[in-house]
Amino acid sequence: MEGPKEIFLKDYKLPDYYFDTVDLKFTLGEEKTIVFAKINVVPRVNGVTPPLALDGIDLKLISVKINGNELKEGDYDVDARHLILKAPPSGSFTLETVTEISPQHNTSLEGLYKSSGNFCTQCEAEGFRKITYFQDRPDIMAKYTVRIEADKSLYPVLLSNGNLIDQGDLEGGKHFAVWEDPFKKPCYLFALVAGELESRDDTFITCSGRKVDLRIWTPPQDLPKTKHAMYSLKAAMKWDEDVFGLEYDLDLFNIVAVPDFNMGAMENKSLNIFNSKLVLASPETASDADYAAILGVIGHEYFHNWTGNRVTCRDWFQLSLKEGLTVFRDQEFSSDLGSRTVKRIGDVSKLRIYQFSQDAGPMAHPVRPHSYIKMDNFYTVTVYEKGAEVVRMYKTLLGSEGFRKGTDLYFKRHDGQAVTCEDFFAAMRDANNVDFANFLLWYSQAGTPIVKVTSSYNAEARTFSLKFSQTVPPTPGQPTKEPMFIPVAMGLLDSSGKDMPLSSFYQDGKLVSITSGAQPVYTTVLRVTKAEEEFVFHDLDEKPIPSLLRGYSAPIRLHSDLTENDLFFLLAHDSDGFNRWEAGQILARKLMLNQVVNFQKDEKLVLDPQFVHGIKCILLDSSLDKEFIAKAITLPGEGEIMDMMEVADPDAVHAVRSFIRKQLALELKQEFINKVKENRSSESYEFDHVNMARRALKNTALGYLASLEDEEISELVLNEYKSATNMTDQFSALAAIAQKPGNAREEALADFYEKWQHDYLVVNKWFSLQSASDIPGNVENVKKLLNHPAFDLRNPNKVYSLIGGFCASPVNFHAKDGSGYKFLGDLVVQLDKLNPQVASRMVSAFSRWKRYDDTRQNLAKAQLEMIVCCNGLSENVFEIASKSLA
Ligand code: PHE
Ligand code: ZN
Repeated sequence: MEGPKEIFLKDYKLPDYYFDTVDLKFTLGEEKTIVFAKINVVPRVNGVTPPLALDGIDLKLISVKINGNELKEGDYDVDARHLILKAPPSGSFTLETVTEISPQHNTSLEGLYKSSGNFCTQCEAEGFRKITYFQDRPDIMAKYTVRIEADKSLYPVLLSNGNLIDQGDLEGGKHFAVWEDPFKKPCYLFALVAGELESRDDTFITCSGRKVDLRIWTPPQDLPKTKHAMYSLKAAMKWDEDVFGLEYDLDLFNIVAVPDFNMGAMENKSLNIFNSKLVLASPETASDADYAAILGVIGHEYFHNWTGNRVTCRDWFQLSLKEGLTVFRDQEFSSDLGSRTVKRIGDVSKLRIYQFSQDAGPMAHPVRPHSYIKMDNFYTVTVYEKGAEVVRMYKTLLGSEGFRKGTDLYFKRHDGQAVTCEDFFAAMRDANNVDFANFLLWYSQAGTPIVKVTSSYNAEARTFSLKFSQTVPPTPGQPTKEPMFIPVAMGLLDSSGKDMPLSSFYQDGKLVSITSGAQPVYTTVLRVTKAEEEFVFHDLDEKPIPSLLRGYSAPIRLHSDLTENDLFFLLAHDSDGFNRWEAGQILARKLMLNQVVNFQKDEKLVLDPQFVHGIKCILLDSSLDKEFIAKAITLPGEGEIMDMMEVADPDAVHAVRSFIRKQLALELKQEFINKVKENRSSESYEFDHVNMARRALKNTALGYLASLEDEEISELVLNEYKSATNMTDQFSALAAIAQKPGNAREEALADFYEKWQHDYLVVNKWFSLQSASDIPGNVENVKKLLNHPAFDLRNPNKVYSLIGGFCASPVNFHAKDGSGYKFLGDLVVQLDKLNPQVASRMVSAFSRWKRYDDTRQNLAKAQLEMIVCCNGLSENVFEIASKSLA
């Protein structure tokens, strides 16, 4: 067998052959499935007909024909990964293959597989080659016709992309359906579903007056839980018309929910397939976070219809072209439907916790990677979340109108094409006639830029200067970096806390004027493009307090020379909600780091009264949005603090964070109790910002209170659990109770399981609550849960809940005796045999092992070494494990 092969962006070559039409016929069966494929093949250059290599994995080839003539053995080669036609005829020809596959044994959940008895497909990135022999690459775009035949009673519903053009009954209790997709598409957008499903039906009238049928398919008993998904879909369709001028292009849009799915969801043309947990919701079973995730992901997959499907990627290195842009679009959609500030805080937190950490570790890669072994490993927070930040920077630099001009030009130029990140950049640039300097470096340089700012006020000259310096840390394969183009949105506050109007500043001694009609400007965007740069504001009668990087205008680590007093001032006054939250977080991080040092020196932990006061002011400020308050009083996570340490110390960070939480609860006990009482839910559940914000504040307060050893509080929390009328409140109360080991915890967990054992999505919450717990020695509980009847290693959601959850608890996963590492190591090996994609995600938890002390390093390294040596290891796990060791 050939070893794992690395694929490079620089090696991209145009295909020698294009496919223009693809006719597929599936006969679905319990023992085997037969796939007939008839492809019209066109050489790219007439007369140039080198051998044609088709990808194919786990296929049994039955026959191959060219122009109707069966090929003989010497005419082609077949190996474990390819079918090679040695001498294709000159000019266009038809290629017909018949292959046999066994979906019922496919545990990788890639290609055609079975989920809860139904057939479904997942082809992105390279799963189509597990269905039939094909040039499995996104720049091969063709029109598809698909005929599906199956047993009618077992599989009454037969779906594929596009329009249903024929259906009927066949002999032997079978039936068929024929689907035709009028749009050219790459094979990764192909989909097929067959099973016992029912649909919630609705319609949407597009801006040009066309009626679109909308259907959300689930097993019959789950239909009542699809209301919110349908609401989300219609909202997304309307939003894309209003904000991007993009209209849906077919008369039918299907969504299917399946319980076994590796990822969140998939944007197959007109037949989106979703992980059930991102479709199914009812107030009793889903939390506010679930409702919000459904809205965002339904939007995301729908938005792909233009950003991904109509305009697709030339090759997989360009993944962020569709994903960064579509994440940006779903973020904006959710912002417009909820609270912009709160959404931004959530998105930035995610970026900092996961993406910054990836960017600082062995898997660091640019938004557009230069190479990969398994593409599946590059569906990352860097490609998605940092990619979305890159798109957001265009908008920050160009303004809403300029950005829209750019996207309009992008669709006008590239509809129906497979393109690159440069094409998007060029559309933005050309539509606005601007110079974007070195902006493209955001696609090619990995690592999080570090930007330092020093400020000084000159009372005599009445000037205020901001000096920026930037560096980008080295990352694997990129030892030295160039300075980046960093848009810094900023404003200046006067001593009363008001924004000062801004009219101009000097950059490199040149006057830059800030224009915006007659309106005063309070926020401007500085363009930092060099290693060092100075901006000078003039005519200032007093020393301003700068509010920098408003709305988090660039994905960087900013270190400013703001004093603690400045930060408390911004926390109290900044007109930019994001920066108000940020000021509080910077203060909290400093405070926590100082206490970590105390803890390590065995000194007493203390909590700064000014910090308590700051938190109290926010908590009691009735002018503030309640969800904002909930975010602002939440301490940075343990991972974020560990990231700032020379050597990460999970025990110290955990002790310090717990201490501060408890201390805040002690000092603000009455205030927290009041927040709980004032914000209890009404009987009926509403998914709207006002009500979600009430619940967020109440449950955050409850979480603080539950850290106290206090009879009265224990009763209060238990009461909240018992009286809850929706999952958000019920689960938050359960989590609060479960913070501390003991009888109350055991009883509540047992009660919850008893109530919800019939609902696998709720049971998954129950798994993750326990696995992610920081109670001492939790690895033993998690091992027991592996044998719980509700657990199944073949179901990704269950693995993410139980095993993923465990790795998210620093104290237990990084237990100094190595028990957490051993647990994960053994599991990865087992899991890899069933589902390499999921195993590879799990093994990533080891990747930052070098951040820890020697003892932990050795223990983690031993597990990684054990894993890479395993026989028959998948390329997926091999890539992550070997790069982690390098
Ligand atoms: N393209 C999907 C999305 O982001 C993600 C996905 C990738 C799903 C690969 C399945 C497999 O919307
Ligand atoms: Zn996507």
